[in-house]
Amino acid sequence: MIDIPESSIMKDGINYKYYINGKWEESNSGKLISVHNPYNNELVGNVQPCTKEEVDNIIKIARENIDCWRETPLNERAEVLNKAADLIVEWSKPLGYLLMKEIGKPINSAISEITRTAEIFKATADSSLQLSGETILGDAFEGFSKEKVSMTYRVPLGVILCIGPFNYPFNLTGSKIAPALLAGNTVVMKPPTQGPLTALHFGIILEKVGVPPGVFNIITGRGSEIGDYLTNHPGIDMIAFTGSSKIGKHLAKVAGMKPLLLELGGKDAAIILDDADLDNTVKAIVSGAFSYSGQRCTAVKRVLPMPGIVDKLLRKVTEETLKLSIGDPSENKNIGPLISSEQCEYVQGLIDDALKKGATLICGNKREGNIFWPTILDNVTTDMRIAWEEPFGPVLPFIRINSAEKAIEISNKSEYGLQGMIFTDNIDLAFNIAQELEVGTVQINGKSARGPDHFPFLGTKSSGLGTQGIKYSIEAMSRPKVVVMNLSERGKLVKQCFVLDK
Ligand code: NAP
Ligand code: G3P
Repeated sequence: MIDIPESSIMKDGINYKYYINGKWEESNSGKLISVHNPYNNELVGNVQPCTKEEVDNIIKIARENIDCWRETPLNERAEVLNKAADLIVEWSKPLGYLLMKEIGKPINSAISEITRTAEIFKATADSSLQLSGETILGDAFEGFSKEKVSMTYRVPLGVILCIGPFNYPFNLTGSKIAPALLAGNTVVMKPPTQGPLTALHFGIILEKVGVPPGVFNIITGRGSEIGDYLTNHPGIDMIAFTGSSKIGKHLAKVAGMKPLLLELGGKDAAIILDDADLDNTVKAIVSGAFSYSGQRCTAVKRVLPMPGIVDKLLRKVTEETLKLSIGDPSENKNIGPLISSEQCEYVQGLIDDALKKGATLICGNKREGNIFWPTILDNVTTDMRIAWEEPFGPVLPFIRINSAEKAIEISNKSEYGLQGMIFTDNIDLAFNIAQELEVGTVQINGKSARGPDHFPFLGTKSSGLGTQGIKYSIEAMSRPKVVVMNLSERGKLVKQCFVLDK
């Protein structure tokens, strides 16, 4: 238990409760789901799978509090986010330490995830003035006069369901909670089952900064058990989801007419032209591919190098990869554990398939417990699974190409379309290639990444639906309300242009 005051969040120092209407409650399910440290398998805590009746009750409470929160002045809604940001920073070390234990993220990255969330809260509060509308006069169209006036302002959608992934369980729930609350919605959050504990602390944080009971609520439980019930629930007005493409697509089918914001999987490809700056490119590839052991949707997941640079690039990338430290996340080693043994087995299957089909192992392909050594495969061809599947692990395939056209073809053939990268000194050419790539974002001479968090962040194809990012999320979690004034013609001041004598 981290030394955060007033945390009645647990029953007995290990069993966490769920959060409804400002209270921490025990579930009637009588069951527990254990959360183990993926590095050493120590028990970090237990959460309770909420029953469907408890889900109904939580959503009912959230609905009952829509009006009170919507009517809370915008500046007050923004102020609680600012206060929450300050508290998150104050508690960033204990929260970061808990996060490291539950998902195996290197401690410095874990603490950065917490402080980054505070920045999102603050930036969202600062964006409150964005919640505005426009006024339009009707006479732009024939048959209509200035007396028909359209006035719009933005209103909340109602109850927003925020579902986060295991790899950023605090940041990618917080990045949904903040805009949802600012826009005047109430929130039901379901954290990932592997990594729920740190996100549960949003209950303490938001209560402490003055969010009224019932405005923010937390459901715990396996998505495979209550996910469909939640996403199909008539009391949910909008769903903001981050997770795998498989689950995201399923959720979209179940959710029906609800507005969705889906941030899903990726297979981001780095196109390396012969004139790329080698040092910058190597740094971006190694960091992009192996941060948090490749467990990032925006990880560099394919390298498409041209013939003139491939050999020196492969040599330098390998040199730098072999320097990465491996081991205990609490010692801030670069390469820590994957989230589960199953994930390690999946990654191993991709490597075995590639090697069987003729890929060249350059380094890695070694596992101890859930630690998987960073693995580089050369001569990867498009008949291999690793060319197309998202490993969510430290595996980097080099798919050699001989033209920019070929690079575009292979990039676009992916079912994913999150981000792409082009490394070259020829910015004009880079811009032209960027226009051909079917992705949400193209990075020129940089690694794929979501941040900074006020940038638009989106995926095409299987990588997502809608756009995340401070102002984009606020927009996605609100809608225009239109009021049309039909003013009387009686009040019209008749003014005519002087007709000049011809
Ligand atoms: P996941 O298995 O899809 O789970 C994501 C969330 O969905 C979890 O909270 C999960 O709950 C929940 N869930 C599972 N089944 C559900 C259902 N039927 N209905 C509603 N929710 C359900 O993904 P993950 O393993 O946590 O995260 C890794 C994946 O997320 C990767 O594919 C990665 O690319 C993607 N990701 C994308 C982004 C992005 O911004 N584009 C960011 C991070 C991660 P449980 O934990 O209880 O199963
Ligand atoms: O997978 C998490 C996704 O949101 C990427 O975030 O900041 O590591 O690029 P980032």
